[in-house]
Amino acid sequence: MDFLELSKSRYSVLHYQNKPIPDELLNKIVEAGISAPTACNYQPQKIKLINSDSDIEKLNRVVPSRYYVPAAFLVCYDKTKCWTRKYDGKTSGEIDATIVTTHMMMEAASLGLGSIWVMYWNPDTMKAEFEIPDQYEPVALLIVGYADKSIDPHKEHFLRKSMEEVLF
Ligand SMILES: Cc1cc2nc3c(=O)[nH]c(=O)nc-3n(C[C@H](O)[C@H](O)[C@H](O)COP(=O)(O)O)c2cc1C
Repeated sequence: MDFLELSKSRYSVLHYQNKPIPDELLNKIVEAGISAPTACNYQPQKIKLINSDSDIEKLNRVVPSRYYVPAAFLVCYDKTKCWTRKYDGKTSGEIDATIVTTHMMMEAASLGLGSIWVMYWNPDTMKAEFEIPDQYEPVALLIVGYADKSIDPHKEHFLRKSMEEVLF
């Protein structure tokens, strides 16, 4: 499958099979996050793998889920390791972490795993629950697992803008 086909076939998965993910696949997803481009190649990403029972319990307290969550990655960046643009002081951390997460999401898809990117959580609660060091800023939560294929993608998945709407 070429990249365009893969990116079109990916969708946000809310329902997962109760089936563990082999470490080999989880490692490949992390590798994809390591291979992502970052500003000046400073690689400020710090990734928390959440797949032990106790960590999943913690996650369920931060992001109450009605569904079974097999594993997740909390993608953070180290605030002391980001590149800063001199003109306006803008730092690259959020952008770097977002690219890293996208790489991981697409690697999960290429491995036949489903995923969903979740932003709807309280950063303070997340930091406290997982005892995230002050210098790390959590940006993205990526839940991964084997999709329950009997459930169709959400209807929003099919709502894509046309080229005419996007290009200007
Ligand atoms: C930055 C970001 C944040 C998101 N946060 C949430 C979220 O908190 N809860 C949720 O159900 N979906 C979340 N999503 C999933 C989007 O709603 C979904 O990607 C979008 O509707 C397109 O659907 P698709 O991924 O199935 O193609 C998020 C996606 C992105 C990229």
